[in-house]
Amino acid sequence: MTTPLATETERFENATLAEMEAFAAAVLPSYVRDYYGSGAREEQTFRGNLAAWGRWWLVPRMLVDVARVSLATTVLGQPIALPIMVAPMSLQKLAHPDGELATARAAAEAGTIMIVSTSTTTPIEEIAAVPELAFWFQLYPFPDFEETVGMIDRAVAAGAKAVCLTVDAASHVDAKRRPRGGMHTPDWVTFPMHPAHAQDTLATLDWPYVERLRGRVSVPIVLKGILHPDDARAAADMGIPAVVVSNHGGRTLDGAITTAEILPEIADAVGDRLELLVDGGIRRGADVIRALALGARAVLVGRPFLWGLAVAGQAGERHVFATLRKELEQDARSCGIADVTRVPRDLVRISRLGV
Ligand code: FNR
Repeated sequence: MTTPLATETERFENATLAEMEAFAAAVLPSYVRDYYGSGAREEQTFRGNLAAWGRWWLVPRMLVDVARVSLATTVLGQPIALPIMVAPMSLQKLAHPDGELATARAAAEAGTIMIVSTSTTTPIEEIAAVPELAFWFQLYPFPDFEETVGMIDRAVAAGAKAVCLTVDAASHVDAKRRPRGGMHTPDWVTFPMHPAHAQDTLATLDWPYVERLRGRVSVPIVLKGILHPDDARAAADMGIPAVVVSNHGGRTLDGAITTAEILPEIADAVGDRLELLVDGGIRRGADVIRALALGARAVLVGRPFLWGLAVAGQAGERHVFATLRKELEQDARSCGIADVTRVPRDLVRISRLGV
């Protein structure tokens, strides 16, 4: 795959994330662009995610010494250099031949955690071999329980520090911008963790399943796809250490509430009984600050890393990290925040003017 735009160094180095999206669209085959960039059905939730963070205005504090801004935090006890993790995303070799390996190298370089999808197109052992990489394994359970446990054991043996169980994919949903009946991937694409890729939904997934799985897995289980405060409460009651407040980037239930809107209710429901992560439409450093103010410990970012990957492999993803890090640092300073682990709730206020 050619990436001609990557050679336009100056343009690329100054590119905003929106420009990276446009560059990626120019180099990707249209079916890949649509697979990455689409949401379910009419894309109400997909669009809502992008709009919702900006409805929270920042109410900055002045006269604070912000000569040094600390971006570091921890997730499940693991130190990360900035409160941004890489969301699990399938089919990364469709963006660039280096696929998940480029993402892993960029995440390791940035000092943060990559969540590796069940539908990775690179074997987990190869990803795990990237020096300094901390990674979790995202799980779409198979119908066969023992086969599922076997796959988790493989990921844990490779070094996965947690299992991120995706709970919001009970059915395959049509998308107006995706081919009906799912995407047919080229023959050269393989799913080394998941040979039966077409069956990546398990409609029988329920709380007893989580309990049963927990009895067989030696690392923490994180639930990804929680939207109702009572589900977050149930997770906390069960001793689940972290949940990802997520609507799957608007790819599953169209009409699902945006994460920017529900996050503070979930934070009120669970307090600090578990660690809250959030994703969906986070595109600016200021969005990260909003998420932290509303109760998240860190955020997951998805599609922007695919744009970076498509444009220039690891260098493109490095640019996405650098852009978000720069904005986060600058905007934290402008908000009077010297430490991202201490962002107060009153730093944000919902717009009442509808602007
Ligand atoms: C995803 N997402 C996803 N989630 C998951 O749990 N397992 C997966 O394999 C995938 N695969 C996947 C592929 C692609 C192309 C996209 C765009 C997304 C969802 C992902 O982890 C995350 O929840 C959202 O993408 C976050 O929203 P943004 O940042 O992309 O808006």
